[in-house]
Amino acid sequence: MSVMTTSGAVCGVEGIPVRVEVDILRRLPAVQIVGLAASSVRESAERVRSAVVAQGLDWPRKRVVINLAPADLRKEGTAFDLPIAVGVLAAAGDLPSGALDGRVFAGELSLSGALRPVRGALALALMAREDGCRQLILPQACASEAAIVRGLDVRGAASLGEVLAHLGGGAQLPAPPATLPESAVADRDLREVRGQLFARRAMEIAAAGGHNLLMVGPPGCGKTMLAARVPTILPRMSFEEAIEVTRIHSVAGLRPAGAGLMRARPFRAPHHSITTAGMLGSARLHPGEASLAHHGVLFLDELPEFQRSVLELLRGPLEDRKVTLARAMGTAQFPAAFSLVAAANPCPCGYLGHPRRSCGCSEGQVHRYLGRLSGPLLDRIDLHVELAPVSADELVDAAPGESSAAVRERVVSARSRQTARFEGSLLRCNADLSGEQVREQARARPQAMGLLRDFIDAHALSGRAHARLLKVARTIADLEGAERVERHHLAEALQYRASLPSDQHQRPAPSALPPPLDKPDDDDSACSPTGRRP
Ligand SMILES: Nc1ncnc2c1ncn2[C@@H]1O[C@H](COP(=O)(O)OP(=O)(O)O)[C@@H](O)[C@H]1O
Ligand SMILES: [Mg+2]
Repeated sequence: MSVMTTSGAVCGVEGIPVRVEVDILRRLPAVQIVGLAASSVRESAERVRSAVVAQGLDWPRKRVVINLAPADLRKEGTAFDLPIAVGVLAAAGDLPSGALDGRVFAGELSLSGALRPVRGALALALMAREDGCRQLILPQACASEAAIVRGLDVRGAASLGEVLAHLGGGAQLPAPPATLPESAVADRDLREVRGQLFARRAMEIAAAGGHNLLMVGPPGCGKTMLAARVPTILPRMSFEEAIEVTRIHSVAGLRPAGAGLMRARPFRAPHHSITTAGMLGSARLHPGEASLAHHGVLFLDELPEFQRSVLELLRGPLEDRKVTLARAMGTAQFPAAFSLVAAANPCPCGYLGHPRRSCGCSEGQVHRYLGRLSGPLLDRIDLHVELAPVSADELVDAAPGESSAAVRERVVSARSRQTARFEGSLLRCNADLSGEQVREQARARPQAMGLLRDFIDAHALSGRAHARLLKVARTIADLEGAERVERHHLAEALQYRASLPSDQHQRPAPSALPPPLDKPDDDDSACSPTGRRP
């Protein structure tokens, strides 16, 4: 008799239903798995046989044929162990008829029949609900994560024995225990950062509009410290965002046993030795750092040290907010809507322009170092800030900075102005606007546009830079609660473009840079006091 049960494969971050068909034939004993199964799935036969025998049951002394459909989808991983085991036992008549109906199974078996967690439980749960199944049976360790999905009966089992009892009408499997909501409160706060008012302001603008940020400054001035605090001023994730983020981390196998929904925004800080596959994801469909940072922050410390090819490939997701991976069987997509925060030293030794230390780098060395950052990449980073070293006085005597909570409040209200404007569209923040949309939404005054035109001309900037400057100005206006982009909003936005790091080797110390490009033209008081270079 042939029986069929359902499991799922994870492709990208999507679960795809896989029907597991089992037939037992009167031929010489053997197990055959067909349907484009990778070797990890073919090895399943040995694990399943041992696990079944360990329950005191007989393995059929016949030919067992297992077909995984659809046949054109490559099946990988160990999650098919459990559905194959229950399929074989149902086909052998060891389970009541109808025991498999409306149920989805996934789980890896040990030789003794214990169930081990699988990757992508949340994606499988969303798939099971969409597929119209009533119950999803998973290993206990990943059941809590699947239980986030409403409208689906999720059960967690520790062993094959427990699953068989449940299906046979014996002891029923428990619904997973309610997980404690993960703390969304970070253990870091902006209050700990002294001074660096200019960088703090740029960070607030970046958070308020979803812009990318580059910080350039000598070692130990607080770049890493500031970057790690960007998630603490971003708005809290919505439930839908949290599901998307949890799903990606679950597919990557990064969720600890028993964990539920992720509440804190991701902060990913890959080392500069990272490969392309590590950054963007691999053909085996492991999400890369760009996707793990989805709805959070991707922090690239020591930006010029990254392989150039890796940085160049990041341009795609910076523009499209997703990663598309090509492989033999079609493509898979991973979302990658992250905020890029990057840091760099001004030169290889780090002390170019330092007021108290001398820099030993030649002009050529500085040029080569910063020249590793291509124009097109820098073009996509809207805010460039230079940080001066913090003085001993500042570290010891300065009052603590403003808290993350206070800054987040302003960020949230600026974002709510944006969402009110975007009503009826899929846009989330100013950074998502197209060039056309931003020109319309900025409602910039003619004086502001005049200033922008002069700046673009003077610095020979691209059309993309033009749109990005206008977006930053729109965000500055949103932080101020202004309807239209005024000249002083644009003037502030231009400050964050005025000092591309590649110009730096020709410059004096950052602290000796000229004053801000322009003063507010009409309303001085409306500009935040932190908005000016100290
Ligand atoms: N502005 C600052 N305020 C308070 N502490 C600071 C500041 N800058 C640096 N520090 C201290 O120095 C350490 C190193 O700073 P870090 O952020 O790693 O510097 P960078 O990344 O610029 O090299 C921090 O852990 C912190 O203790
Ligand atoms: Mg650092």
